[in-house]
Amino acid sequence: MALLDILVYPDPRLRRTAQPVAIVDESVRRLVDDMTETMYAAPGIGLAAVQVDRNERIIVIDASEDHSSLNVFINPTIVDRSGELECEEGCLSLPGVYAPVTRSQRVHVTAINRDGDAFELEAEDLLAVCIQHEIDHLEGIVFVDYLSRLKHDRIRKRLEKEARRKSPEGANHAAITL
Ligand code: NI
Repeated sequence: MALLDILVYPDPRLRRTAQPVAIVDESVRRLVDDMTETMYAAPGIGLAAVQVDRNERIIVIDASEDHSSLNVFINPTIVDRSGELECEEGCLSLPGVYAPVTRSQRVHVTAINRDGDAFELEAEDLLAVCIQHEIDHLEGIVFVDYLSRLKHDRIRKRLEKEARRKSPEGANHAAITL
């Protein structure tokens, strides 16, 4: 396995729309494994292929504290959703940035797993938030897109300034980082 570089906002590559995976082969499984290792090392609880400069519709999520609940979603689709939940979100592509986002409290997802088998999952609360956040990445959406224009501009300027200084902060924030 290998650690992959995570793109940092406002890198324009984070705005691409990922393409469906046609077949789950060895190269897809290798990408899944590398993404998982990269997510754990960051550390974060979710990662989308777009964030590591890959164009496939693949996300990995593990919201447990001991790395015991890995969820791999290939070609994920939310087929039903309900409720509302506000959660303080962070993102591995926006180091040090945290803000509340309102999302659905439950989602019903269809996807393919690492073995290439189709599955369905009913998720709620933190896992549901993670799934929505990561699927957004596959559509070129980052969570700060949901904030006001003013807040969004402030965050972008701060990250651009930090990128010039090359000293990202906030790696140890307590909120969730997806
Ligand atoms: Ni993210």
